[in-house]
Amino acid sequence: MTIALEEAPLAPAVRDMPPLRIGPLTIDVPVVLAPMAGVTNMAFRRLCREYGIGLYVTEMITTRALVERNDVTMRLIQHHESETPRSIQLYGVDPRYTGEAARIIAGEDHADHIDLNFGCPVPKVTRKGGGSALPWKRDLFRDIVAAAVDGAGDVPVTVKMRTGIDADHSTFLEAGRIAEDVGAAGVALHARSLEQSYSGTADWSAIAELKQHVTSIPVLGNGDIWSAADAVRMVEETGCDGVVVGRGCLGRPWIFGELARAFGGDAPRVDASLAFVATAFRRHAELLVEFYEDELRGCRDIRKHAGWYFKGYPVGGEMRGRFTKVDSLAQIDDLIGELDLTVPFPGDSVEGPRGRSGRARRAILPEGWLDSRELASTAGVISSAVAMRLTGRPATRTPTSNASCRNGVRSAASSHATGRECCIRRACGVSPRRRKYSAPRATPTSRVTGSPTRSRSRRSAANWLRRSVSATTSSTRRASVTTSAIRPSGTTANAR
Ligand SMILES: Cc1cc2nc3c(=O)[nH]c(=O)nc-3n(C[C@H](O)[C@H](O)[C@H](O)COP(=O)(O)O)c2cc1C
Repeated sequence: MTIALEEAPLAPAVRDMPPLRIGPLTIDVPVVLAPMAGVTNMAFRRLCREYGIGLYVTEMITTRALVERNDVTMRLIQHHESETPRSIQLYGVDPRYTGEAARIIAGEDHADHIDLNFGCPVPKVTRKGGGSALPWKRDLFRDIVAAAVDGAGDVPVTVKMRTGIDADHSTFLEAGRIAEDVGAAGVALHARSLEQSYSGTADWSAIAELKQHVTSIPVLGNGDIWSAADAVRMVEETGCDGVVVGRGCLGRPWIFGELARAFGGDAPRVDASLAFVATAFRRHAELLVEFYEDELRGCRDIRKHAGWYFKGYPVGGEMRGRFTKVDSLAQIDDLIGELDLTVPFPGDSVEGPRGRSGRARRAILPEGWLDSRELASTAGVISSAVAMRLTGRPATRTPTSNASCRNGVRSAASSHATGRECCIRRACGVSPRRRKYSAPRATPTSRVTGSPTRSRSRRSAANWLRRSVSATTSSTRRASVTTSAIRPSGTTANAR
């Protein structure tokens, strides 16, 4: 059935929803654009803001790249003058880089809010113990959040996380409390575990649980908001203080207007006819060209959005294919000229999930990661001196009997099937291959319940931690020298 948006049933409004208060910031409507790598650049944030009200966050910015003032990174943290408040998400695994990155953002007035990414499920990230793997190590999690809060000064810092590694290794309640304790101004929960990735449905009951547990700062809910009605339902079911919307806005930036209205805000109502959608697509492309200062790059970026914009509209495969090859704004105009712009909003076919989904997959973690909750005692092999350097606190050693080697041996003292001694004593025949700066390869045995691995290239957590400590110690020293050397005192905004 085809229904015009004007005739669509109204989502029930939560008109008494108070504004979202994140530290000193007041967001009139408690809606946040989720950080999305490759999507939430300045162009997309501006577009979303043109339709709605809320807080619009950058894609994740690597702390080390920011501290080292990588050119691309410095561009990604820039905001347009129309963007206020400005929000940057940081990703890092080292408290010192995180603290320094936060200090740069606050000291040089790059943003009004900093979010920390503890939700990324991508193997490249979690195999280094980053993203959604990190809160498992509560000492490291605490140190990173505390360093960010300290570095950020008056700029509020929030935490975005998942429920945990998997159903047996939940972290969100404890992480929420830790964040609250060390001065975070809010926590957002994507109600899926790392193992779930984007599969199935988000478990909103976890958001309700977190809201009961964390009481002094706002709790935001995230996961599977595809419409304003979903957002209202999430607030009603969980009691959360605001919502974070990711995939639901892909190809539909005007959802922020619908969300604003659903929460009692004043935003114009749109009729999402094909003509309207084509105009929004064209505007997005134009903003991307402006952002990249390069027409070809802007048009290359818009290509991936075409499928999302035209989802549910009668725009055939051949035509969509042509949209995914555009090189210029003129080409986009020509293609739009070929569309039947009298097509009204098609209704249900536009609604529902979009963007990433996929299947649950085994968590990819540094070896031995789940053996203890403290980084300082990972696999029982980190010396006090090393732990002190990494976390600033002495190691709490896990008894070696709890450690598992990469051949699946549960005790440092025992021998495994091949008769060799345990890897973590570095006497195992399959010694780790060294690679500069990288974490150990992921291994199925990193799960507590895992079975023996056969890969020859897998290294122990101990080796990785030893190496990363010495690498980060020396590079942080280098970085801080660079930072203080090039940062003018009393710095001013350079990116608004
Ligand atoms: C393309 C894409 C990129 C993402 N990049 C980030 C990111 O940079 N930082 C982050 O914390 N989460 C990232 N996420 C996760 C989202 O912020 C959000 O938590 C997740 O999509 C669940 O919310 P949703 O159901 O509303 O999409 C990304 C998600 C997608 C689909």
